[in-house]
Amino acid sequence: MWTTIFLAFAGTVTLSAAQSSTASGTALAGTGAWASAYTKANAALAKLSNSEKVGIVTGIGWEKGPCVGNVAAVSSINFPSLCLQDSPLGVRYATGVTAFPAGIQAGATWDISLMNQRGAALGAESKALGVNVQLGPVAGPLGKSPEAGRNWEGFGSDPYLSGIAMQQTITGMQASGVQACAKHYIGNEQELNRNTMSSNIDDRTMHELYLWPFADSIAANVASIMCSYNKLNETYSCENLQSINLLKKELGFQGFVLSDWAAQHTTTGSANAGMDMAQPGDNFGDGNFLWGQNLLSAISSGTVPQSRLDDMVRRVLASWYLVGQDSGYPQVSFSSWNGNGGPNVQGTHKTVARAIARDGIVLLKNVNSSLPLKKPTSLAIIGQDSIVNPSGPNACTDRGCDTGTLAEGWGSGTAQFPYLVAPYDAISTQAATDGTKIVTSNTDSTSAGASAASAAATAIVFINADSGEGYITVEGVAGDRNNLDPWHSGNQLVAAVAAVNKATVVVIHSVGPLILESILAQPNVVAVVWAGIPGQESGNGLVDVLYGSTSPSGKLPYTIAKSASDYGSEPVSGDDSYPEGLYIDYRHFDHANIAPRYEFGFGLSYTNFTYSALTLPSPPASGSLTFSSLYESAGTVTATIKNTGGVTGAEVAQLYIGLPSSAPASPPRQLRGFDKLSLTPGSSGTASFTLRKKDLGYWNVATQQWVIPKGAFSVYVGASSRDLRLTGTLNVS
Ligand SMILES: *[C@@H]1O[C@H](CO)[C@@H](O)[C@H](O)[C@H]1NC(C)=O
Ligand SMILES: *[C@@H]1O[C@H](CO)[C@@H](O)[C@H](O)[C@H]1NC(C)=O
Ligand SMILES: *[C@@H]1O[C@H](CO)[C@@H](O)[C@H](O)[C@H]1NC(C)=O
Repeated sequence: MWTTIFLAFAGTVTLSAAQSSTASGTALAGTGAWASAYTKANAALAKLSNSEKVGIVTGIGWEKGPCVGNVAAVSSINFPSLCLQDSPLGVRYATGVTAFPAGIQAGATWDISLMNQRGAALGAESKALGVNVQLGPVAGPLGKSPEAGRNWEGFGSDPYLSGIAMQQTITGMQASGVQACAKHYIGNEQELNRNTMSSNIDDRTMHELYLWPFADSIAANVASIMCSYNKLNETYSCENLQSINLLKKELGFQGFVLSDWAAQHTTTGSANAGMDMAQPGDNFGDGNFLWGQNLLSAISSGTVPQSRLDDMVRRVLASWYLVGQDSGYPQVSFSSWNGNGGPNVQGTHKTVARAIARDGIVLLKNVNSSLPLKKPTSLAIIGQDSIVNPSGPNACTDRGCDTGTLAEGWGSGTAQFPYLVAPYDAISTQAATDGTKIVTSNTDSTSAGASAASAAATAIVFINADSGEGYITVEGVAGDRNNLDPWHSGNQLVAAVAAVNKATVVVIHSVGPLILESILAQPNVVAVVWAGIPGQESGNGLVDVLYGSTSPSGKLPYTIAKSASDYGSEPVSGDDSYPEGLYIDYRHFDHANIAPRYEFGFGLSYTNFTYSALTLPSPPASGSLTFSSLYESAGTVTATIKNTGGVTGAEVAQLYIGLPSSAPASPPRQLRGFDKLSLTPGSSGTASFTLRKKDLGYWNVATQQWVIPKGAFSVYVGASSRDLRLTGTLNVS
């Protein structure tokens, strides 16, 4: 249990005059945690020739080094050929690593300690393999469209939840010694036409939604940020001075901006916009380097200033020094290409992988306490999603198939499974202990499923929905999902099972929201378990919940609607003008007064919690906020949570704030705090939500500042975005 989500680094971001006033956002001296790294970087920089400098900022070419990205070493300053490697859930292409639950599963735990531990374990494995920069975590896509193919790589469709998860993950990773990379910056909200489309995002929406988790990443001293494939306001993200200046000038980012792989389009445009490193250097092996010699020529001819090249190198070196990689850092000990998967670096990380697989499970429905299972005499396990792909868990390159149980989406955001515990594996072990007879149908055949279901007292039917990165098409899905239905006719499989079994439990592995109306209309569906994207410990985490050794405690990190059209945003074929503005996910449902099926923040437990004793802080002053005050405390809201049920359980108490009427039109409620408390039966705890000043603000487009408006703020503390148990008013004058 923890009593506060207010972070220790809060308030450490200060901008030197040099940073805030220099045209290109050049940080010469470094501030805060970066100061000594900048001193070292400046000393090293002074020893370098321009050709060495260009080598540090230009990838050596696709598949030319052991990692997906590599730069040239400079022996005079002991700088190695920096290794940059995917992914946000494990070290891609290595074979002795942990395949962690995806970001979305970590988001669904709402557990800052587990988020931090996951980051620390990811960082430890990267370091052990000699990876200098791990390409994660993900804050974009944020998930404005539920179909978007890569939403599962991030933490959920709310900027506050994503921001806290980014901070915790980055802090954990960098404490272990690896440089984190917050990605994909910005407006990369779909796979469809991602290399050509433009995300045209207005300034307020940018600040209050999409930039927000990147701002929190910078406050956590993230070493690097990856600019994305898409255009922003019709200019490619990696060539966009305005958007890169938001990071470097407005937010004081002192690390480096690197391109997504081949997201660079010009030599001077990218350099002068503030991109600091080109990866993989050429365009996926074509030998055409936009930087390298071309950058050297641009410096000689003056089309790119020498100061810009120095700034790039200073930032790359400072990030390397920041996390202490200049001393005793391991050599790269695997290869992405030649079959050398490297040593086993998993340590005891399966423990945190299992905890997140388990605590990210969201119990959606549980009629008459059908769950937990109580040593059933017979149990049918139905559906291909219950077993490992018969060809092996890594049979499809970059997990580009949906065969067997779904535990990762597909694309570059994946890792090899060292093993995969499928639901069937873990349930059959438990069944052997309990003396439960198991009947199986491990295909998606409705007739075989019904036959198995009719032979058992309880049936568990497994269905899923997959998505991924657009360079792979799986079963007609080119990245973004085509609809929000289960794959493989999952609704029909559930209907066939429920038609013959009065205690049908549905377990769903999904990259994001599904429309569940058909499933919920089956009277014999007594329970629905939302098991997310759980990684290698899938079955073990599931058994912990199904059998009640742990009460479910996950909460939805997005809204599950009654109809796909209720979301009000979906991938578009041309440019996207972001017409929904601030109103994505629950902000839209609340604003448009649309009833969701299961709202953002929802999740059941095997026990019950009551909420009481809301306390509010004395209100902060209204007015514009200076940059350095954004992360200062604006006071603490508390509430008492009591476990009034029969078993130990954890509750995620959530704080939502409604801005006063003096603010410009805003979502009715926005998440601004959460606290997860584990409570034994009969015991109480204090949920504590420390507000940062920016949590009470809106972005004033005219003054380009955050403003705390005057008036009555609505304060809600509850069990979800719609189960608001306590309300109060904070009067700001
Ligand atoms: C993108 O364009 C919109 C509309 O003009 C503007 O409000 C916003 O500030 C622009 N964003 C950037 C980063 O230039
Ligand atoms: C739940 O329990 C009630 C009361 O015993 C019963 O009437 C109802 O049919 C049960 N519902 C299901 C789905 O079993
Ligand atoms: C406790 O929770 C269960 C389901 O989680 C519910 O059926 C029951 O009514 C609750 N009891 C009380 C007293 O709230």
